[in-house]
Amino acid sequence: MSRPEYKIKSTNYNDISLRLARKIFGIEHLHYGFFTKGIKRDIQHVPQAQEAYVKNLLKYIPRGVKSIFDVGCGTGGIAEELVKKRYNVACVAPDPYLTNLAAEKTKGRAQVFTDLYENLDAEPTPGSFDLVLMAESCQYVNPERGWEQHGRFLKDKGYVLIADFFKIRPLDRDDLSKSGHDLDRFLSVADESGFKLLKKIDITRETAPSMDIYQGIITQYVFPIAEAIFEFISRRYPLIYRFMSMLFKEKIIKLHARYSNQSAAIFTQYKGYFILLFQKK
Ligand SMILES: C[S@@+](CC[C@H](N)C(=O)[O-])C[C@H]1O[C@@H](n2cnc3c(N)ncnc32)[C@H](O)[C@@H]1O
Repeated sequence: MSRPEYKIKSTNYNDISLRLARKIFGIEHLHYGFFTKGIKRDIQHVPQAQEAYVKNLLKYIPRGVKSIFDVGCGTGGIAEELVKKRYNVACVAPDPYLTNLAAEKTKGRAQVFTDLYENLDAEPTPGSFDLVLMAESCQYVNPERGWEQHGRFLKDKGYVLIADFFKIRPLDRDDLSKSGHDLDRFLSVADESGFKLLKKIDITRETAPSMDIYQGIITQYVFPIAEAIFEFISRRYPLIYRFMSMLFKEKIIKLHARYSNQSAAIFTQYKGYFILLFQKK
């Protein structure tokens, strides 16, 4: 029986906003910052906090690991670090803009695949990796299929290292961001799929300041720019404006409400950011 093909869902178009962040703010990684005490909590210091995130995460790679599959590699910033540390690296992401960057950054020293992780099959070689790394990409991958894929690509006793945020309590309001898997459910799927949890480190306190910074960018830059564009269209092309309002009004109101509710305080109420290390049983 043939496997279902997974298709890129709208959430994967986050890549478009990620590209913008890179162009406008010079951000090279696409994950949250890890704000330790010495790092100022503003947009200028996000690159420094993102480097701290990588440094902290790579500490959890177990000894003896030689080959790493970086799933959801973004711009390839982490893969570049791994290659420098002489690991054998492969990476995958569904967006060609990002995988081209990853190929450039790793200078031909990593295998790079452009697809959803869920769809990979014969390549890279199944059973060839000591560790699968998911740095803030786990939330985009179907959990059941994800664990099946980890089983396929890892060697016996191989590891899965995840850094991501998860829902830790039910979302009891409509205007909250739904992103992130439910933690308890995710951990039980891992267990049922044959993976043992070795480490669970809570880094919510260090990563949550990113939310206040992103919320600031959205309310101070993105919303005002979008409003100015709509204002321009309404004056210059009133018919087009009316047509667009009819189609998108509800959606825009929802987006506005959701993106106005992304502060660190709200984030920490509903989500937790964890580093999780698993081993194939
Ligand atoms: C928030 S970014 C993190 C990127 C990178 N790991 C980092 O730490 O900067 C999420 C990444 O996951 C990728 N992604 C989303 N859905 C995916 C899927 N189903 N399979 C593989 N990668 C996926 C996106 O293209 C993006 O590169």
